[in-house]
Amino acid sequence: MSTMNTERVLEVRHYTDRLFSFKTTRDPAFRFLNGQFTMIGLEVDGKPLLRAYSMASSNYEDNLEFFSIKVADGPLTSRLQNIRVGDHVLVGRKPVGTLIQDSLLPGRTLYLCATGTGLAPFLSVIKDPEAYERYENVVLVHGTRFIAEQAYDDFITRVLPQDEFIGEMVRAKLRYYPTVTREPYVHNGRITALLESGQLPADLGLPPLNRDSDRVMICGSPVFLKDLVAMLHQRGFEEGANNRPGHFVVEKAFVEK
Ligand code: A2P
Repeated sequence: MSTMNTERVLEVRHYTDRLFSFKTTRDPAFRFLNGQFTMIGLEVDGKPLLRAYSMASSNYEDNLEFFSIKVADGPLTSRLQNIRVGDHVLVGRKPVGTLIQDSLLPGRTLYLCATGTGLAPFLSVIKDPEAYERYENVVLVHGTRFIAEQAYDDFITRVLPQDEFIGEMVRAKLRYYPTVTREPYVHNGRITALLESGQLPADLGLPPLNRDSDRVMICGSPVFLKDLVAMLHQRGFEEGANNRPGHFVVEKAFVEK
């Protein structure tokens, strides 16, 4: 039996020369937890060419959504960036990943910290009623170099709060903190520096990051993960896993060499 489903592309959006997203059909038997990823890709020369992608859609939605970088000489993304509505993509049937609710101990504030396409799993999490039931505050922090890379800004600030199913919870509990490092914006600076200095929690009227009340999910580039994890360790946070909940969990965002 094949380990992959074949899904049809329903929508493609290009944001910059480095970023795009797309929606596909979803096999009703494909179940996942919000925040998980699976292998997706294309058939090239008769063989599947696959990479790990987080679902940006939530597990109660009819369609799947993915948020991707474009790498000119990337074996998969150089091809995937050219997909059109009606094309087919392969979607693995085995979702996995640690950015799930059961990997974390109970807490008061959930920080979702992403750089670049590391935002993808958190787009799934911020549509998840469970996240709002478990926490008093859900803080979504997205760091990019440029404003144009804040690809889901409109969705997060305008569409989601009006959503029929999750809108009320979003309006009550979601705090969105976009930050840009290479041009002026509503917030500027690296996520690590903004957390370290206490500016980010202060801007939201929250206490400095602490392990008694705060839980953190992290997804982004390898250097960002390394620095943020070091900072959390310094503050006594311990990493969680699916079978051993902790104070934070980490996942590398899609990287294509
Ligand atoms: P900066 O512009 O100062 O490099 P990238 O596109 O390279 O993955 O970067 C996405 C965002 O992550 C950028 O705002 C970048 O800031 C930031 N960043 C890069 N390295 C780190 C790091 N080690 N810690 C925190 N943020 C980082």
